[in-house]
Amino acid sequence: MTSPVRLALLGCGTVGSEVVRLLHEQSADLAARIGAPLEIAGIAVRRHGRDRGDLPVDPALFTTDPLALIKSDDVDVVVEMVGGIEPARTWLVEALRAGKSVVTANKALLAEDGGALHDAAAEGGADLYYEASVAGAIPLLRPLRESLHGDRINRVTGIVNGTTNFILSAMDASGAGFAEALEEATELGYAEADPTADVEGFDAAAKAAILASLAFHTRVGAADVYREGITEVTAADMASAKAMGCTIKLLCIAARGTDPQGRETVSVRVHPAMIPLSHPLASVGDAFNAVFVEAEAAGQLMFYGRGAGGAPTASAVLGDVVAVARNRLAGARAASESAYADLSVRPMGEALTRYHISLDVADRPGVLASVAGVFARHDVSIATVRQGSAEAGSGRGEDADLVIVTHVAPDAALAATVRELRGLDTVRSVTSVLRVEGGV
Ligand SMILES: NC(=O)c1ccc[n+]([C@@H]2O[C@H](COP(=O)([O-])OP(=O)(O)OC[C@H]3O[C@@H](n4cnc5c(N)ncnc54)[C@H](OP(=O)(O)O)[C@@H]3O)[C@@H](O)[C@H]2O)c1
Repeated sequence: MTSPVRLALLGCGTVGSEVVRLLHEQSADLAARIGAPLEIAGIAVRRHGRDRGDLPVDPALFTTDPLALIKSDDVDVVVEMVGGIEPARTWLVEALRAGKSVVTANKALLAEDGGALHDAAAEGGADLYYEASVAGAIPLLRPLRESLHGDRINRVTGIVNGTTNFILSAMDASGAGFAEALEEATELGYAEADPTADVEGFDAAAKAAILASLAFHTRVGAADVYREGITEVTAADMASAKAMGCTIKLLCIAARGTDPQGRETVSVRVHPAMIPLSHPLASVGDAFNAVFVEAEAAGQLMFYGRGAGGAPTASAVLGDVVAVARNRLAGARAASESAYADLSVRPMGEALTRYHISLDVADRPGVLASVAGVFARHDVSIATVRQGSAEAGSGRGEDADLVIVTHVAPDAALAATVRELRGLDTVRSVTSVLRVEGGV
């Protein structure tokens, strides 16, 4: 058999240790599929003395000097499973420039500075694969990057963060509030001790940037993505969604559009949204991920599965390792970055969306007209109005609940409408504002 393909593994935590295990368990099959055995040249970690359980690997392979490992003549492919921007960027740029192909699970780095990695890959004539960076085990990036390259993608809508999906699913199922559902997620190991990256939408925004870049042949970075997390979603919002035959999900949405000058653009956003129960993403529960792709010729496609976890993510990493190793043996390279379209990213204010607005209003004649007048002034058309039962106010006379769902309008016009409603003397409070996606 051909001489082995030698791997430098950077990181041996949740993902890295599963990659080591699978490399060991499946070594014969992997060798047969590639046409050469895979060998671990070294494993870079932070703590040399850390107890790594019964990991089936020679302890002498561990090192705390990733750069020396990457630079070693003995290494063909670098597999990065550490995370964070630096020093990972320095390591991967070094490897790629030296012609060593890279497989990485690092969504934060790809969203922050994917361009630097792609440029280095082009410079060194090396492959850059990152299937594990979005939606864990779900084959998604390769379909976007290869299978759908003959098509034109118009929109990608996804649930790409398992922690927030678990929390929202729990709120939907039990009527719990955000804090209670987060506590449950933490107890069950679905949320980290510091859940900020997940619940504030940073993790989903990084994935949205990666998906948009691939779908629209345009470099989109994390800073281009409009982001709102789920910390403000209340039990009352969820109940209101249910009353409309909907649920609430944290969605990443990347969509093609046109600006007022008729030029093609892309908008990329992450925020909680109400979707009808009939929408394919509504039934994606627990910590599962799913991505709904709408393409010109292919129509609607749905990708579903486990978006995180050691073994599922390791499956995606190893799929990339096999592809990179095969390319290497064939003396070939995967297609390089496709960013030729270079579409401009539209500001959130111009994104077309719909709002669901709950108001606590004074229950007296003329209120509805004054509220409707505000929508009209901002050119926002109302789709439905529901009035809840009147209840006694706290010494201010009677109140009523008003629930208004709009037609599609620019986000800036909708936001301005809400601002003006807040100042209206007939509106006691705007109790909830949620975007609505899908055909509600
Ligand atoms: N966990 C998931 O479900 C998941 C899913 C998709 C993508 N990812 C991505 O996969 C990557 C790894 O995630 P993970 O959950 O496996 O992380 P993790 O469990 O925290 O493991 C990180 C590993 O990196 C090592 N490390 C940290 N800093 C280092 C340094 N300066 N030099 C050398 N080694 C260093 C650590 O060494 P020690 O072992 O000595 O501490 C550890 O082995 C991240 O980019 C993450 O976003 C993770």
